[in-house]
Amino acid sequence: MPTRFLTLLLILVLAVGFSAQADANKYVGVKQCSMCHKADKTGNQFAIWQKSAHAGAYKTLTGEKAAAIAKTKNIKNAAETPECLECHGAVDAKLVGTYDVKDGVQCETCHGPGSAYKTMATMKDKAKAIAAGLHEFKDAAAIEKFCKTCHNEKSPTNKAFKFAEYWAKIKHTVPKP
Ligand code: HEC
Ligand code: HEC
Ligand code: HEC
Ligand code: HEC
Repeated sequence: MPTRFLTLLLILVLAVGFSAQADANKYVGVKQCSMCHKADKTGNQFAIWQKSAHAGAYKTLTGEKAAAIAKTKNIKNAAETPECLECHGAVDAKLVGTYDVKDGVQCETCHGPGSAYKTMATMKDKAKAIAAGLHEFKDAAAIEKFCKTCHNEKSPTNKAFKFAEYWAKIKHTVPKP
């Protein structure tokens, strides 16, 4: 085989390898995020999330109400069907790392898969974190739009989504020093 062809092939293999690596941020799970986000001094985002409805979103699918809804739709098990899991906790199967579907709507469901941005050096530099996969919300309108990717009429129990009221229930701000 001509060397030029081999060189080209090598470049191609490397390029594909690198882009696959860049796209492969994995979901690491709440435990990993909470290691650094459970101190009261910095707002204990973990405790706020744990008390929120989002933490129980998977468990809801194992309850009687879910079973009743599933029955009307000819679904055997709400907790096993993508039709319910898409909003109640599952992530892209290719990106599953140490994440647990039982955690429901968890940190990374909103902030993006964290395998690359979760290190201290990256987290402390917002631009770096965003480059490593942290989801950027430009403003309140962008946050609201994002919430409505699940809070919409595709939900069998859809309630009117009142952004200000709903955000107040789950917000987890870092207190200003
Ligand atoms: C090794 C510790 C550590 C881990 C693990 C960690 N974080 Fe962080 N994170 C931080 C620190 C420290 C900051 C604050 C940066 C600052 O304000 O200087 C931060 C900031 C953030 C911010 C705010 C970014 C901004 O500037 O607006 C978000 C969102 C966030 N983390 C989400 C997560 C999620 C989701 C995970 C799990 C995938 C996670 N973090 C894991 C340490 C960590
Ligand atoms: C991945 C889908 C998803 C996204 C994105 C999402 N939610 Fe939810 N949310 C849910 C599910 C599912 C429930 C129901 C959980 C349960 O009770 O089992 C819920 C419940 C809630 C509740 C409790 C409602 C009640 O009746 O008590 C609030 C408040 C809420 N979400 C706020 C928000 C806000 C604010 C955003 C945007 C920042 C948001 N959610 C984004 C899926 C999502
Ligand atoms: C339903 C979606 C949702 C979930 C679940 C969620 N967050 Fe957030 N988080 C947001 C949004 C939206 C913001 C505001 C971003 C902004 O204002 O730029 C935010 C902000 C933050 C901030 C920055 C706060 C500040 O004052 O700068 C941190 C840190 C954070 N989240 C960590 C976490 C951690 C850790 C978890 C899991 C224990 C988590 N979040 C779960 C949507 C979510
Ligand atoms: C498009 C996103 C979405 C899909 C798909 C979805 N849900 Fe939900 N689900 C939500 C949200 C958001 C809430 C909380 C607010 C609400 O009721 O709209 C919720 C709440 C619930 C609740 C609690 C209602 C209550 O009042 O206690 C049950 C039970 C439920 N969902 C079952 C299911 C089942 C079963 C499926 C599959 C057939 C399903 N969901 C599919 C988004 C979704």
